[in-house]
Amino acid sequence: MDISVKTGSILEDDADAIVLNLFEGVKTPGGATGAVDRALGGAISDLIAGGDFTGKNRETAVLYPREGTASRRVLLVGLGKQADFSLDRARQAAGVAAKRARDLGVKRLTTLVHGAGAGGLDPAQAAQAVVEGAILGTYQFTTFRTTNRDEIKTLSALTVIEADPARREALEAGVRTGRIIAEAVCTARDLSNRPGNDLTPTALANRAREIARAAEMACEVFDEEAMARIGMRTILAVSQGSEEPAQFIILEHRRGKPGQKPILFVGKGITFDSGGISLKPGDGMWDMKFDMGGAAAVVGAMEAVARLDLPIHAVGLIAASENLPGGKAIKPGDIVTSLSGKTIEIANTDAEGRLVLADALAYAKRYDPAAVIDLATLTGACIIALGHDAAGLITNDQNLADEVQAIGDATGEIVWPLPLLEGHREQIKSDYADVKNIGGRPAGTITGGAFLSHFAEGYPWVHLDIAGMARSEKDHPYTPKGGTGFGVRLLVEFARRRATQKQQGGPS
Ligand code: BES
Ligand code: ZN
Ligand code: ZN
Repeated sequence: MDISVKTGSILEDDADAIVLNLFEGVKTPGGATGAVDRALGGAISDLIAGGDFTGKNRETAVLYPREGTASRRVLLVGLGKQADFSLDRARQAAGVAAKRARDLGVKRLTTLVHGAGAGGLDPAQAAQAVVEGAILGTYQFTTFRTTNRDEIKTLSALTVIEADPARREALEAGVRTGRIIAEAVCTARDLSNRPGNDLTPTALANRAREIARAAEMACEVFDEEAMARIGMRTILAVSQGSEEPAQFIILEHRRGKPGQKPILFVGKGITFDSGGISLKPGDGMWDMKFDMGGAAAVVGAMEAVARLDLPIHAVGLIAASENLPGGKAIKPGDIVTSLSGKTIEIANTDAEGRLVLADALAYAKRYDPAAVIDLATLTGACIIALGHDAAGLITNDQNLADEVQAIGDATGEIVWPLPLLEGHREQIKSDYADVKNIGGRPAGTITGGAFLSHFAEGYPWVHLDIAGMARSEKDHPYTPKGGTGFGVRLLVEFARRRATQKQQGGPS
């Protein structure tokens, strides 16, 4: 999609549709929406007076003016109550409007920057949110559709219009940032939506290499031989039941000041989780191609960090493997020695995410990181605890956790803290090894985190359990159903804020 900023009057824009907005409860529109209303002889006011459009969040209406506007369609989108307005509301409005326009067959769409007028948002941030909403709201995964491809509708151009020329520079910066970030979320969604037979660990590594080349960052991939040499035995233990070799992927963007510690993003990349010998029931298995949502978010976030060329040293680590049963597969009761040297009793082969992450988190230590954030579709229990509205957060560093939670609030990717107590660590004590990979039914998400905390030692660390967030079962304003790319925007914002801090050691 072509995206540009234009200075001028929306009345004179001849796109296939123009998007205007309205706060809930406003009877007489002001600003640009008011100007169009006047040019249309009060048609928008009439719509409001008739009760056909109230300005509720996510509401839309379409008018087809005979005269008054250069565009033949006027699309109204509701922003909700002004008191509840936020950047995320602007993103949602843009997503809903762009999707409605696309479904109407619109190719060239022009939009106001929702919230930059009466909404009181910072113009650059508002423009970023609007572009993110439009790109993300119209995302489709069509790779495997072969029939009726001519019926697939897409927007070809988005113009962000603003009457005040003084704002142009800020809007252009916001549009550029929003575009890069949204495209990175789409990268993550594409990876997530690809089925397990297509996106194997090897295919994931190849895609990471391509993305790294295009975004000008470094990419190194360890094959199983290299992993064995290093001692990454827990990743190899998970992959040994599969014909597909595991891959350990390292993405690196080195733009920090000399001596500054890097930030690390670590992703669980199980390209298909059958449960292994502790086989899942069929009902719980069909969506396990999404078990690499953490890895997808790390690839997407690193792509954006590199394309934005943030002045920071950022590293992405991805442990990619299948989890399948087979004659060579790990068995419940097996004991392996992890990269950290700690021994693990594998009491359940379906708790494989924490196994691959154990080695990845131990490897992270080699970078002497300022902060490590891992993302993993780790536990079904997290869906029971938090549903599909927040990811679970477990940490060994309260400052980092507060920072991540605040960024989640700002980006609309909500994360919620769960306590990690001594009793939780007791639950995963093993009779035969240093630690075991399950802790029973109570606090299933926390015992997953407790297990990881054994390997995330010596640096500030946050674990995000995104089991409920990596895939959506229904359409949301800017998140169609399927792989969501959850975490990309949060990680990129984390990197952006860390990049502009004087000291990279942490917030002060
Ligand atoms: N990938 C699953 C967790 C999951 C479940 C993600 C549903 C998304 C939706 C993970 O590997 C797993 O199987 N976890 C087990 C852990 C248990 C054996 C301790 C689970 O949640 O049942
Ligand atoms: Zn599993
Ligand atoms: Zn899994």
